[in-house]
Amino acid sequence: QFPPTIRQLLSSPGASARIEVNGWIKSVRRQKNVAFAVINDGSCSQGLQAVFKPERLPYDATNGASIRLVGHLVDSPGRGQAKEFQVDEAEVVGACDPETYPIQKQALSTEYLRDQCHLRSRVDKMGTVLRTRHTLLHAFHQYFNSQGFTYAHTPIITSNDCEGGGETFSVVSQHSPPHSRGLLSEDDPSKKQPEMFFDKPAFLTVSSQLHLEALAAANSRVYTLSPCFRAERSQTNRHLAEFHMLEAEWAFTKSIEDVCVTVEDAIKAAASAASAAEDLDVNVLQLQKPWPRISYTDAIRELESHHSSPSSTFKFSPTWGSSLQSEHEKWLATSLGSPVFVTDYSSSLKPFYMRLNDDEKTVACFDLLIPGLGELVGGSLREERLPYLDAALDKHGLDKAEYSWYADLRRFGGTPHGGFGLGFERLVSCITGVENVRECIPMPRWAGRMLL
Ligand code: 4AD
Ligand code: MG
Repeated sequence: QFPPTIRQLLSSPGASARIEVNGWIKSVRRQKNVAFAVINDGSCSQGLQAVFKPERLPYDATNGASIRLVGHLVDSPGRGQAKEFQVDEAEVVGACDPETYPIQKQALSTEYLRDQCHLRSRVDKMGTVLRTRHTLLHAFHQYFNSQGFTYAHTPIITSNDCEGGGETFSVVSQHSPPHSRGLLSEDDPSKKQPEMFFDKPAFLTVSSQLHLEALAAANSRVYTLSPCFRAERSQTNRHLAEFHMLEAEWAFTKSIEDVCVTVEDAIKAAASAASAAEDLDVNVLQLQKPWPRISYTDAIRELESHHSSPSSTFKFSPTWGSSLQSEHEKWLATSLGSPVFVTDYSSSLKPFYMRLNDDEKTVACFDLLIPGLGELVGGSLREERLPYLDAALDKHGLDKAEYSWYADLRRFGGTPHGGFGLGFERLVSCITGVENVRECIPMPRWAGRMLL
């Protein structure tokens, strides 16, 4: 039904039959006896070199125009590409004024492209990002399917703040007061009142974990990739207000090591697939080596010892019981030259749901840290023992009535269970080498900025 994509065409062996190709023009070169155009349809990064008799290249075939070609793919005599497309017929489908086209050929700054985010997917790097997201997603589905997991959809509108960070967006309806109906314009936003829609305050989800726990208590192994929303004001290259999280949750775990192994295998499988599809350098992930584990307590010891040396550049001094600062996280992973699982953090630093260790000071959890990036994944065993869960709810000042459904999962056939959440845009950043997560999603949102 569809003509081949340029990727499909270029990867097919030998010369092609007469076929149609569609795409956008990246560059045009007219010579006396021949004309060339590079066409791309977003399916690959290199594009297709099209060769024309000069009179067959339409006058309005300019950079950015969409074009339909009919011809044959042949081995290229020229350097720079293995194959080229000999054009018999060409038709500009949508012209593009080369003077005002925002995506000019010269290098465009990241800031400029953010302002053009409706057109920036035409830039090669953004095409690679979009395809990498797709390949990762596909590989994660394959991985979890092969391990007997079921994909589940979880709510976007929720009543809980899973992480207890208080960085939620609230959901209200815009309601026109009854007296205004028919009298005032219903479209006039100044006449509309924000109003609670449900029977309790509602928020956009920050994590699907608690809902996944309920599903894991019946379907054993579940996962999702859901949008998550956090009203974080941090202006960093790792934070978005709307991002995607790959989360998995499963019953009958034995130790936190079970969760680390799954995270390591899933990421290695997905990253290998993505690097093969786009020929990307994913050295930062050290795919051929096992990733080290280090406890939070040992990590603090190493950080303290580095901090007491003259070469320390830390702004914050590392202390047991305090959060690892982003500089500490980056140093740990960079000095090891590998992703590293930091396990068993002080319970005072982590949310209510993490399982308390026997020392009663630390919890069975980990953060996966990546050189240059910092935290990519967080996971834990979940507290399945009711008395401990009750104590944790009290300690965090949470209302037990609100969490009675969560306690039921322990009360009625509870199991030791655990899971993790991986920041999808952060993974895309490590894999593509694109530094800021704002370029790892097509239409980013962050504090103070929402384009489109
Ligand atoms: O560490 P977090 O907050 O963990 C949770 O939400 C758990 N409930 C997940 C679970 O166990 N099911 O978030 C998990 C990951 C982080 O490691 C980070 O990669 C990413 O989500 N993340 C963000 N990515 C982009 N922008 C933000 N504002 C992010 N906040 C977290
Ligand atoms: Mg975390």
